[in-house]
Amino acid sequence: MSKTLIKEVKSKFLETFKVAPLLIFSPGRINIIGEHTDYNDGFVFPAAVDKGIAAAIQKSNTGNCTAIALDLDSAIKFELDKLKPSKEGSWENYVFGVVAEIQNRNKVVGDFNIIFKGNIPGGAGMSSSAALENSVVFGLNELFDLELTKTEMILISQKAEHNYVGVNCGIMDQYASMFGIKDNALHLDCRTITSKPYKIDFKDHQLMLINTNVKHSLSDSAYNDRRSACESISELLGVKALRDATKEDLETVIDKVTPSNYQKALYVIQENTRTIKAAKAIENNDLELLGSLIYQSHAGLSDQYKVSCDELDFLVAQAKKNKNVLGARMMGGGFGGCTINLIKKSEAKAFGKTASIAYKNKFDKECSVYFIELSDGTHLVK
Ligand code: GLA
Repeated sequence: MSKTLIKEVKSKFLETFKVAPLLIFSPGRINIIGEHTDYNDGFVFPAAVDKGIAAAIQKSNTGNCTAIALDLDSAIKFELDKLKPSKEGSWENYVFGVVAEIQNRNKVVGDFNIIFKGNIPGGAGMSSSAALENSVVFGLNELFDLELTKTEMILISQKAEHNYVGVNCGIMDQYASMFGIKDNALHLDCRTITSKPYKIDFKDHQLMLINTNVKHSLSDSAYNDRRSACESISELLGVKALRDATKEDLETVIDKVTPSNYQKALYVIQENTRTIKAAKAIENNDLELLGSLIYQSHAGLSDQYKVSCDELDFLVAQAKKNKNVLGARMMGGGFGGCTINLIKKSEAKAFGKTASIAYKNKFDKECSVYFIELSDGTHLVK
């Protein structure tokens, strides 16, 4: 958690609204493996991190609400009985969406003011959106005694993303951000929405992120297209989700699907198996195997699922050339954002430097290297 962020939102809140707020920290997430499997009812392996969103929230008695995004230096006033989605891509949709989804559950939210600020760069693939949604729902739950469980809260955050932001996301990001446990990754079954924590201590290896600092346009529509393709294939197979299908099942409909959709479904089935194998590899301290599964995941995301981009592929290729990197892959929805690298601790900084120079030479722009700590999920800050 960033103490500076908390201080900033707190002092801005006191200055603006002259009353002490509740303070919340809501983290972003990484994902070791299991990409685009969540909305197929499959397995994922995320962890909350020490970067995220700090929010200050308190009741308002002015007859309306104000939300301020400090990073964007942007403020918006709104009334609770007149909520509707704002222009596509506006930050306030995350706030409006959460409030509207709480109201849909017949829970009564009163007027409130909220100020937030984050340190996850947008488009990094580290779920700044889930962190924001969770901070809002968590804050409102505290403020108005809504008695929502954490699972209800993440379902509200997810619905906000579907109905107000327009991305038909799975549950991984909201789950990881809400349920994160310090020093652990969560092997999450997205069908039952339950997870098993795995203490992550890779001894002389560690995880490191490299942000391409690009977010290619159309990533949201491409995401929704992938999801619909998966759903139509499961329908064709007569199963609830691709999690229930095998490669052999898929072969029975090979003539009924396009070659590109066949590869996408195959990717999901294989990635789900890899995620289960990754949990075993971690149990057995088999980092070589974990690394190779991570590389395979990237190959599938790039060649079969087609959600990578030149910048991500380049950084993974750099990793492959370096024997100290056991595995690397794109992380999150794709089309930009970060790679996650499983790398020898003593060599991490050096690789970060080499990769950054190579990236700059190739694309004439900077990438950013992040060292992260696995952290607790959304919580009140006392
Ligand atoms: C985004 C979505 C998640 C998940 C990932 C891909 O982060 O929000 O639900 O589908 O992409 O694994």
